[in-house]
Amino acid sequence: EGVMGASTKNRGHWSSRLAFILAATGSAVGLGNIWKFPYITGENGGGAFVLVYLVCIAAIGIPIMMAEVMIGRRGEHSPVNSLRQITRLDGLSRAWPIVGAVGVLAAFLILSFYSVIGGWAVSYVGTAATGQLAGKDADAIGAIFSGLVGDPGTLLLWHTVFMALVMVVVARGVSAGLEKAVSILMPALFVLLLVVVGYAMTSGHFSDAVAFLFEPDFSKLTTKGVLIALGHAFFTLSLGMAVMMAYGSYLPKGVSIARTSITVSIIDTVVALLAGLAIFPIVFANGLEPGAGPGLIFQTLPFAFGQMPMGSFFGTLFFILLIFAAWTSGISLLEPLVEWLEEQKGMNRIVSTLGAGIACWALGIASILSLNLWSDIHPLGMFAMFEGKTIFDLLDFLTANILLPLGGLLVAVFTGWFMSRQALENELNLPAAGFNLWYNTIRFLTPVAVAIVFIYNLV
Ligand code: PFF
Ligand code: NA
Repeated sequence: EGVMGASTKNRGHWSSRLAFILAATGSAVGLGNIWKFPYITGENGGGAFVLVYLVCIAAIGIPIMMAEVMIGRRGEHSPVNSLRQITRLDGLSRAWPIVGAVGVLAAFLILSFYSVIGGWAVSYVGTAATGQLAGKDADAIGAIFSGLVGDPGTLLLWHTVFMALVMVVVARGVSAGLEKAVSILMPALFVLLLVVVGYAMTSGHFSDAVAFLFEPDFSKLTTKGVLIALGHAFFTLSLGMAVMMAYGSYLPKGVSIARTSITVSIIDTVVALLAGLAIFPIVFANGLEPGAGPGLIFQTLPFAFGQMPMGSFFGTLFFILLIFAAWTSGISLLEPLVEWLEEQKGMNRIVSTLGAGIACWALGIASILSLNLWSDIHPLGMFAMFEGKTIFDLLDFLTANILLPLGGLLVAVFTGWFMSRQALENELNLPAAGFNLWYNTIRFLTPVAVAIVFIYNLV
């Protein structure tokens, strides 16, 4: 049965908890884990940042994921209509569905630059497969990356390929075949990460990397770093964007929302930490810069593949699997908008996919140019907070660090303060102590924590 593509009139349920976990993990695990987590950890000084990130996952991310899945399951519609359904049933304000709309917008903005980075991964498949990485030193590897980023035409080509991949699947409706692929290719990605960690343990400065990642030095933590850790907790778990709401609407009644959300979050976190353990030993062994920015994994992993036995093979396979992980995430980013266009504007699926996908692709061109021809353009540079940020940096910052936490905050307030407690208890079906822990978190801790982080960053 088509999972997300099922018609709204005849919405089936997933056959099992496993199917939900596969789809949700497919959305969660992606470039956020392997590309973004290591580079923002490097930029924000390591251990203390990682600790804040882990606390945000456990204390804010998991409770919000539970809330989103629950809204979806209770509303049993696409996000905006699930919120409509619940507000109507419970006699709440008609304004709440806006939360879903903010999510759809955020997802659209994210996909525009996510696809550009997905394109980098596509490009590296060819680079690794043709043996261009073999035996290269760190400078030569860096030159390959600079060559790619400096060439708008090539970036556009791979961005187009990636976006086309996403659009093909969304246009046809996500199928059970994709889930089966997730169940094979995700573990394969996991194993390949272990291979690189193995290489890093023997050839890199592994203990330096462990110290960098897990020994918190709070003097390196900034207020902005806390905001970035919080934002990344949302980004990496696909929260604040109504994606998990959409998926939750297919979750069978009776499946534990808490257990399922925790499982997905743990898988996502382990993949991110493994990526860190794969990359930083290579960074330290070769005198590279941890704060190198968005290019970090594309300057370290290719180097490792160039050195290890059978590196061209492992490298090719790794980038193929990375594309797959990014692809399943990209699909979940485009799907909400397409569903919304279908429901609200009555467009058919092909037309809405083409419209949404091409608009997103076009916006991606601005991110591409901001990496080269427009690299000196800093649209909001007059504000201290956005100083030196290109269009690409801004899209990333505004979505992950502002829109997603804001979406999450609204979800928390909606469930914690407006939905009926009875409904929440029925949906979550937890022992009293577990329910109270979640309920108090979502009512008090989450809104207060997000508000404090926002306020600190504004003043
Ligand atoms: N969670 C994905 C990742 O870590 O790569 C990115 C993402 C997918 C964010 C879907 C948001 C979303 F709705
Ligand atoms: Na993720």
